[in-house]
Amino acid sequence: MPDPRHVAVIMDGNGRWAKARGLPRGAGHAAGREAIRRTVRAAIQEGVPWLSLFAFSTENWRRPEDEVRLLFRLFEEVLWEETPELVAEGVRIHVIGERSGLPQGLLAAIDYAETASASGDRLHLVAALNYGGRREILRAVERLVAAGLAPSEENLRKGFYLPEMPDPDLIIRTSGELRVSNFLIWQAAYAELWVTDKYWPDFNEEDFATAIRAYKHRERRFGGIPQR
Ligand code: IPE
Ligand code: IPE
Ligand code: MG
Repeated sequence: MPDPRHVAVIMDGNGRWAKARGLPRGAGHAAGREAIRRTVRAAIQEGVPWLSLFAFSTENWRRPEDEVRLLFRLFEEVLWEETPELVAEGVRIHVIGERSGLPQGLLAAIDYAETASASGDRLHLVAALNYGGRREILRAVERLVAAGLAPSEENLRKGFYLPEMPDPDLIIRTSGELRVSNFLIWQAAYAELWVTDKYWPDFNEEDFATAIRAYKHRERRFGGIPQR
């Protein structure tokens, strides 16, 4: 199997990681930051051109207000603090999801990260923030209708948050959960899934490399029959 062009990661298990240590959930989210750094490093090392990270779903608003606020503050911090190094590494940052409802400070950080990294060409790093696959599809349908376009897959895609993003070849999920939780549901139609029991804050470069290796041994048939 050729190398994956797009690896999508559902970063899950921060809360359980913290609970196992008798810490508040926020400590788990903060610890997840290092795992993000390791994963970006690993993606660059493995030569993966697109990496997407599920950071906050449209359903995560169901969490206590304090936790939602803490997460947004953390995302804001990460974007301001990590962008310069990412730019130096040739990383281009994109943020997908609904902007409405996000606090001003976070919106400013997103703008900064996307603008400052716009010429990066080594890795496309996509942060899915206030993102839901169903929401994205509905939004694309609304745009298609408004533009009077015929309903084709190609035309629908034009209304996605990032039309040029290739479909994920591999989806990694941590903390053992066997579901996609509304992440890239259209794009993931033929994605290969790889799940680890590790909680997100414990995820490292070696896990990423293991997932890629496993992917390379998979046989993707896309509904056809084996080649050979
Ligand atoms: C993933 O960890 C981070 C986000 C969804 C923002 P969780 O917060 O979902 O951790 P668990 O699943 O409760 O352990
Ligand atoms: C998926 O994790 C969303 C993100 C990683 C941002 P959740 O923890 O929200 O998913 P469920 O609720 O277990 O399906
Ligand atoms: Mg979770």
